[in-house]
Amino acid sequence: MRKMIIAGNWKMNKTISESIELAKSIKTSSNIDVIIAPTFTSLKSVSETINNNGIIVSAQNIHPKDSGAYTGEISPLMIKDAGCKTVILGHSERREYFNESNQLINEKIKKTLNYDINVILCVGENLDQRKTEKTNEILSEQLELGLSNINDLSKITIAYEPVWAIGTGEVASPEQAQETHSFIRNKIKSMYDEETSNKIRILYGGSMKPDNAEGLLNQQDIDGGLIGGASLNPEAFNKIISLAEKISQ
Ligand code: 13P
Repeated sequence: MRKMIIAGNWKMNKTISESIELAKSIKTSSNIDVIIAPTFTSLKSVSETINNNGIIVSAQNIHPKDSGAYTGEISPLMIKDAGCKTVILGHSERREYFNESNQLINEKIKKTLNYDINVILCVGENLDQRKTEKTNEILSEQLELGLSNINDLSKITIAYEPVWAIGTGEVASPEQAQETHSFIRNKIKSMYDEETSNKIRILYGGSMKPDNAEGLLNQQDIDGGLIGGASLNPEAFNKIISLAEKISQ
């Protein structure tokens, strides 16, 4: 059975002291993986606050070079040094606002894996693409190009985040999400093999909240959630962790 993941993407929110406070209020779990992704400036303080209590600290991005003249950028070595075990790559906000291409995301993934850091690769269609029935085409392209020349997926988790559901309050129905997750798993099977596709964890992201999480997390091919807004509210985030724990029993 795949171990569930509940991950909080804090995006560009919280100062260092606010991040420490939020990190302290997140529940630890023995039967699911809990991940939190603060901003770069809070990574080290949050890692120290957590102090190996089982919660995994993730970055939200990296630059695909080890070091050098890249003003304003952060390398995988630097996030590792700050206590990160994971990084979120290919988020739709990075694709949209920072013009990140599938090729760049692929470079970032390869570099991250060299440092033995896990990756949460985000994929997802926008509203126009869903309406014109291009969802599967877009997802195939994002997976094929994003994972190009990567043979081992053991350190990779996929997050399916339909862009139209992110921060909009509009959530994919459990059936809609399951259908797309199943498509993604089959796609991984066709690119790799059955064992890889059975092992890889696929998270749902997009307006996941305590009141809709159970229906989503109960789906066969949904292995957890990547949560934005609700992860900033410890009560809501802890509720989602508890639901995932209950489903995992
Ligand atoms: P919301 O949960 O705020 O919709 O954000 C989802 C997301 O983008 C997580 O990466």
